[in-house]
Amino acid sequence: ETAGKVITCRAAIAWTINAPLCIEEVEVDPPKAGEVRIKIISSGICGSDNHILEGKTKTPLPAILGHEGAGVVESIGEGVSSVKPGDKVLTITVPQCRKCDSCLHAKGNCCLKADVIYPVGLMLDGTTRFTCRGMKVHNLFGTSTFTEYTVMHEISVAKIDDAAPLEKVCILACGVPTGYGAAVNTAQVTPGSTCVVFGLGGVGSAVVLGCRAAGAARIIGIDINERKFARAKALGVTDCLNPRNFKKPIQQVVVEMTGVGADFTFEAIGTIETMVAALESCNLSYGVCVIIGVSPTGSQLSVDPMKLVSGRTLKGCLLGEYKTRDHIPLLVEDYMKKKIDVNSLITHSLPFVKINEGFELLRSGQCIRCVLIF
Ligand code: APR
Ligand code: ZN
Ligand code: ZN
Repeated sequence: ETAGKVITCRAAIAWTINAPLCIEEVEVDPPKAGEVRIKIISSGICGSDNHILEGKTKTPLPAILGHEGAGVVESIGEGVSSVKPGDKVLTITVPQCRKCDSCLHAKGNCCLKADVIYPVGLMLDGTTRFTCRGMKVHNLFGTSTFTEYTVMHEISVAKIDDAAPLEKVCILACGVPTGYGAAVNTAQVTPGSTCVVFGLGGVGSAVVLGCRAAGAARIIGIDINERKFARAKALGVTDCLNPRNFKKPIQQVVVEMTGVGADFTFEAIGTIETMVAALESCNLSYGVCVIIGVSPTGSQLSVDPMKLVSGRTLKGCLLGEYKTRDHIPLLVEDYMKKKIDVNSLITHSLPFVKINEGFELLRSGQCIRCVLIF
């Protein structure tokens, strides 16, 4: 019986940027009112975790990173009603409080209780549930999954099917909905269309699955790492381009290849340069460009407004525009009915303690998704 008690367990601490994570003993407080303590079973390593470790996007440290997790509820705080101990859950960075302006709007999904756009790394009451070596440790996006136990707000916890395989479905907590939803919800890709996906990592690969599901006729994949091309083609990419193989800008190559520019373009990398290229790759009149990648903290996107006046649409989305607690469990159902091929995005699994090797696999581009098993 651990309910109501502090749990001592192992977690990977990010003390500073540009350094390996340290596996340490941590104390995890019991959940307060409206909170849930979760035993993590698996966690993907996402590009956003890596951006933070490389110092591109900022969140307060020391912290327990990781946000793409699957686990089992260990105990619940006062007033929690949507999950109970023993339930299988996913850890979601974007809550669904069902009360704020975004949640009450028919389309909005950026819940005002989220700590993801400009993160402060604390629970909503301004404190943290993690202690290491007598020091308070921040959380990440209200999730923190690189730990054997975590505490989250109930509004960020999605209860999923009891039969879901937890060592696989963790990537349905972030990478898969982020990419898939960008195609089917945000862009609303149409049958027969031409799509371009910038970045063929975990998120970009999920965009490809979404474009294919929506009936795209041509899917052009762009990446500087040609190792990604074989797997991308297996997922449905029809043409692969490496921008480094061309003298002219890649957007010009895409416009020439398609004659008129693409119907839909997606940026799943997170640099300003590729965001501009994605915008300029879509058709000047009816093209839609969706920004998914998380840009470096403080950066500004500068575009010639005439590129929009001609008719293009520039949009962004967070977690694929899903109402997270309502819709992500349905994606898990779709996966279990074999409608979404999550397994082929998981190229590596490692025991949790090998987390630094997992980050190396991501940085060197050897993996699509590496899943840590606890
Ligand atoms: N041009 C083309 N491709 C690039 C470039 C570039 N300048 N820079 C990096 N890439 C490719 C990498 O080779 C890699 O295949 O982008 C891909 C990024 O994939 P991952 O590292 O697997 O990251 P992922 O988890 O897919 O996240 C991508 O989406 O959610 C956001 O924060 C996340 O910004 C990140 C993006
Ligand atoms: Zn993520
Ligand atoms: Zn809300």
